[in-house]
Amino acid sequence: MYSSLPILSLSLVASTQVLAHTPNDYSFDPLKHLAGVAPPFDPLDPPLDPAPPQGCNVTRAAYLVRHAAIFANDFDYEEYIEPFIQKLDNTSVDWSKIPTLSFLATWKNPITDAEQEMLTRSGKLEATRLGVDIAQRYQSLRTPKKIWTSTAERTVKSAKSLSQGLADDASDVEVVEIPEEADEGADSLTPYKGCNAYSSSAGSDQSSAFQKVYTKPVTARLNSYAPTFNFTTKDIYGISLLCGYETVIRGSSPFCNLDLLTPNEWLGFEYANDIQYHYNTGYGNPASGAIGFPWVNATFNTLSPPSNTQSNASTDQDLYISFTHRELPPTVMVALGLFNNSAFSGANNINGTMPTDRINHRRAWKSSNILQFLTNVAMEKMECNCFGFEAGSYYRVLVNDAPQSLDGCADGPGESCREMGQFLQGRAGVVGGYGESCADGGNMTGVLGIYGS
Ligand SMILES: *[C@@H]1O[C@H](CO)[C@@H](O)[C@H](O)[C@H]1NC(C)=O
Ligand SMILES: *[C@@H]1O[C@H](CO)[C@@H](O)[C@H](O)[C@H]1NC(C)=O
Ligand SMILES: *[C@@H]1O[C@H](CO)[C@@H](O)[C@H](O)[C@H]1NC(C)=O
Ligand SMILES: *[C@@H]1O[C@H](CO)[C@@H](O)[C@H](O)[C@H]1NC(C)=O
Ligand SMILES: *[C@@H]1O[C@H](CO)[C@@H](O)[C@H](O)[C@H]1NC(C)=O
Ligand SMILES: *[C@@H]1O[C@H](CO)[C@@H](O)[C@H](O)[C@H]1NC(C)=O
Ligand SMILES: *[C@@H]1O[C@H](CO)[C@@H](O)[C@H](O)[C@H]1NC(C)=O
Ligand SMILES: *[C@@H]1O[C@H](CO)[C@@H](O)[C@H](O)[C@H]1NC(C)=O
Repeated sequence: MYSSLPILSLSLVASTQVLAHTPNDYSFDPLKHLAGVAPPFDPLDPPLDPAPPQGCNVTRAAYLVRHAAIFANDFDYEEYIEPFIQKLDNTSVDWSKIPTLSFLATWKNPITDAEQEMLTRSGKLEATRLGVDIAQRYQSLRTPKKIWTSTAERTVKSAKSLSQGLADDASDVEVVEIPEEADEGADSLTPYKGCNAYSSSAGSDQSSAFQKVYTKPVTARLNSYAPTFNFTTKDIYGISLLCGYETVIRGSSPFCNLDLLTPNEWLGFEYANDIQYHYNTGYGNPASGAIGFPWVNATFNTLSPPSNTQSNASTDQDLYISFTHRELPPTVMVALGLFNNSAFSGANNINGTMPTDRINHRRAWKSSNILQFLTNVAMEKMECNCFGFEAGSYYRVLVNDAPQSLDGCADGPGESCREMGQFLQGRAGVVGGYGESCADGGNMTGVLGIYGS
């Protein structure tokens, strides 16, 4: 009897191995892991119900939106894509003989110099669709008379495309352009530009370190197929960027193929970006929260005018929508304390949560979920009369349609926040003022005044 045991356990091992190698329902979509070049999607992070809690009506809402998909960002193009494409133009490799790369024999670059920083057609369509989504979501709110945008063409065009979906007649919506110059400081939709503690290259060194780690097996593999091409770390990173850009230009891209980069390698690309944004506009830059706070403060003041103000400017719209660049939404997340890798840890080991030699899969900070094309962060004011809660006003923050639980103010219906003003005062203390964090003289105002409140 006992002698049969080893055979039994052997067969158990064999069968679990078979199970372990069964793909089951594993599926992987690289488009959801492309960080700043991810097409819009709802990450459901966290998967709380986006509908207003039962018994609550949204009475006002504000949205901060990154512009929609563009052909290519200058830096991405010049640093990664163009050098790769020049190598492709020069090479004598016969791609048609290499199965994984055979498409390169006929592939043509979809990005022209002239269009580089412009919105793509799908970008315009997605922005219009967001306008429709907002109009349908807030049917009882009035169509806004004004929406706001920074002055770059891609943000202005995004705002105009959104108004096509938002209003019955887009010409009823005035698109107000807010200058992007550094001397506007916090009184702009680009407050990072006027902040001395912000540097556009912050995070590059840390990100480069991890780029080398995740691309090492890829360069080795692709160079075994085409030894004379000399695939480099930057080429591999460029391939992932091309997957995103070509998809938003042409609708699909052969570079998104899972035979070219495995799911794990796409996750490497995503994490390299997460490291970059962590130090650039995230918790790894001590000024991030101070940069994002003025929008949060102005938005809350606008949705909830203090009772002692006589001004009625802030009550003449129900919806406030503003367009900006990829840098601002992540700083707003930090100002609100969202996606903080250290939350619940009882410690604040800022850099330790983003090692550069391996992926922290348990991080909360995932750039694909935070700053994809058309990424948006919303604040809703709700009037509630629900079972189990005091009747009155509550606030909710949503990121790409997912309601967020604010750490320290989530005891309302649907984890909404009752004492938002008090919560934000606390946050102001944690993240510091714009003036103190951003100006050498400490004398810049931290107030965003564009909404007229
Ligand atoms: C392409 O080839 C030319 C001529 O051999 C060379 O001068 C140039 O540096 C090459 N460019 C790249 C990006 O390899
Ligand atoms: C491959 O490219 C890298 C980076 O451009 C360069 O430093 C290296 O010398 C090249 N290797 C070969 C074998 O051409
Ligand atoms: C409210 O707005 C109207 C129209 O702009 C203006 O005439 C009125 O004086 C304002 N009231 C206050 C209290 O500011
Ligand atoms: C992130 O979380 C840690 C741990 O709770 C906290 O000490 C820190 O203040 C938070 N960071 C910000 C910017 O809110
Ligand atoms: C985190 O990294 C940044 C950038 O390298 C550095 O300036 C900062 O001192 C580090 N913070 C801690 C707490 O180690
Ligand atoms: C929400 O709106 C409905 C329809 O207008 C109304 O009947 C209800 O009383 C409102 N609830 C609250 C809490 O304001
Ligand atoms: C802030 O202080 C700096 C340095 O003292 C000075 O040059 C600048 O003009 C001041 N800015 C304002 C808005 O007062
Ligand atoms: C928030 O906005 C109000 C009204 O503009 C302003 O008085 C206050 O200083 C702002 N708070 C911070 C921390 O910037």
